[in-house]
Amino acid sequence: MTRFGVLVSGGGTNLQAILDAHSDGRLQAEIAVVISNRKKAQALERARAAGVPAKVITHHSFPDRQEFEQALIERLAEHQVDWVVLAGFMRVLTPLFLSAFPQRVVNIHPALLPAFPGLDGQGQAFAHGVKVAGCTVHLVDEGTDTGPILAQEAVTVRDDDDLESLKARILEVEHRIFTETLQKIASSELVLEGRRARFVGTR
Ligand code: GRF
Repeated sequence: MTRFGVLVSGGGTNLQAILDAHSDGRLQAEIAVVISNRKKAQALERARAAGVPAKVITHHSFPDRQEFEQALIERLAEHQVDWVVLAGFMRVLTPLFLSAFPQRVVNIHPALLPAFPGLDGQGQAFAHGVKVAGCTVHLVDEGTDTGPILAQEAVTVRDDDDLESLKARILEVEHRIFTETLQKIASSELVLEGRRARFVGTR
């Protein structure tokens, strides 16, 4: 069975959606370990409540990014992780980390990429006045939110939306498309042709 390691930094509602999908059988994979770079992340409590090993590796404890990433790699390897899931993980990963999990790091971004990459995708989209917002599940490469797209879904912006109401509707969709995509990763083969990604067959 595919073993996912989940990296988090904050509240962890996407992690919760993943844990829920795992416990009710919609996600047939192992959640091997959850690692936070912040001690106070609520995501850690969510992992512990679900009986998943929850670890803290703070970036402050290392002299540089490379050593921080090396520690992450070692901990993920200890838990025999096949795929790394970024669920609100707020550190940029370098080629050192990515080469340990080639084409096996997946992220959720709260905007329709390639529009509005980087921090606060929903806020950027809202401020731009878009009529269609949304979210994207993508493989992580060396750029910021530039890797091949695995799934996307649009969310219509309503005239009476404020940023908070829009964020809430995007987040609901994030939870669904992220868990569905992880199930595809666990149950089929991911084929990449250039930037185009598709899932084929079933395992
Ligand atoms: C989500 O909006 C996700 O798209 C972004 O970070 C946020 C994490 O939220 N990458 P949560 O910690 O899963 O609640």
